[in-house]
Amino acid sequence: MGNIISDHSPRLSLGGKKRRKVQPHRQPSTISATSTATASSSDSTSSFRYIDGRRFNENTKYTLPNDDEEIDRLHMQHYLQRYIWQGNFCAPVHNILRTPGARVLDVGCGPGTWILEMAFDYPDTHFTGIDISPMYPKEIKPNNVEFEEADINQGLPFADNTFDFVVMRNMVNALSDDDWQKALKELERVCKPGGFVECLEFEIPGVRLGHTTKRMVEAYIQIMRTKNIDVTIAPRLEEMLTTSTSLMNLKHHVKMVPFGKWGDKAGKIMADDLLLIVKAIAPILIPLWGVGASQYQEFTNGLARELDMGRAYCNIHTIFAQKYDTYHYI
Ligand SMILES: C[S@@+](CC[C@H](N)C(=O)[O-])C[C@H]1O[C@@H](n2cnc3c(N)ncnc32)[C@H](O)[C@@H]1O
Repeated sequence: MGNIISDHSPRLSLGGKKRRKVQPHRQPSTISATSTATASSSDSTSSFRYIDGRRFNENTKYTLPNDDEEIDRLHMQHYLQRYIWQGNFCAPVHNILRTPGARVLDVGCGPGTWILEMAFDYPDTHFTGIDISPMYPKEIKPNNVEFEEADINQGLPFADNTFDFVVMRNMVNALSDDDWQKALKELERVCKPGGFVECLEFEIPGVRLGHTTKRMVEAYIQIMRTKNIDVTIAPRLEEMLTTSTSLMNLKHHVKMVPFGKWGDKAGKIMADDLLLIVKAIAPILIPLWGVGASQYQEFTNGLARELDMGRAYCNIHTIFAQKYDTYHYI
């Protein structure tokens, strides 16, 4: 997969009519009470909590589930983001990744969609993904890929200067301001001199949101603030990375992504993605917001109508920087 700076990459599409539609309203399983369980993998340290049929990780303040339905959503979101950027990364690392023995780290890798694709594109590079929830493939994966269960807030379990390219994508729901500062320092620490660090995040809230959508998003922002997570952090990441003394050549790209019909296929997938998120966070949000399940469903229906008929959009940010090295320049 080329990077967005490359002029000669083939144009990536979102697929034709055969794209598998992820159902925003797929019925959850019948478990309705809260219950707990330990992850099925024998070496996993995760404890899971089931609320209204959705599975959450007990060991984190991260609000999204880690079940199959969420894995489907993350696959869909990955292809949407790859389409938006016309590639899997923005940093100028194509040549680095073609060098045999190069190493890449994906922090909060989720089901590993990005890594598995990158591992196919760069077979001589070794890819490591870490995530607090073992949602990634444990057995069937390419030889140049490994996954590890780890919490970025505990520090990365790797030596300084290990990786040529370190990425962290879609983590606004997981980290407090303080966590971000520490996490960015960790990304920088494990990156080799001359290597690159890259972050990608949607900016919350969106722009030109309808009344109901705005109300729901604002309630979510407030509730996340009570958990010390600022989901609106995306536009401030550039500034956070700029304060680093060992990063240089920072570049920040922003693209706008429409929600709904007016944005054609990508707009429809963006709207589906938001609806799936609204559904996924329902078990956490409903009790904290103090609305009933049927009222939440009414809000969700209103949001779906507004996204469909309005001209709302959201900005998506990619920021990358190179770790200082006297001999490496872009
Ligand atoms: C929205 S998903 C993004 C997954 C993947 N990066 C992508 O873009 O498709 C966020 C991921 O971060 C993981 N996560 C949340 N808190 C974490 C933490 N403290 N350390 C490591 N991973 C974490 C979640 O389990 C989830 O898989």
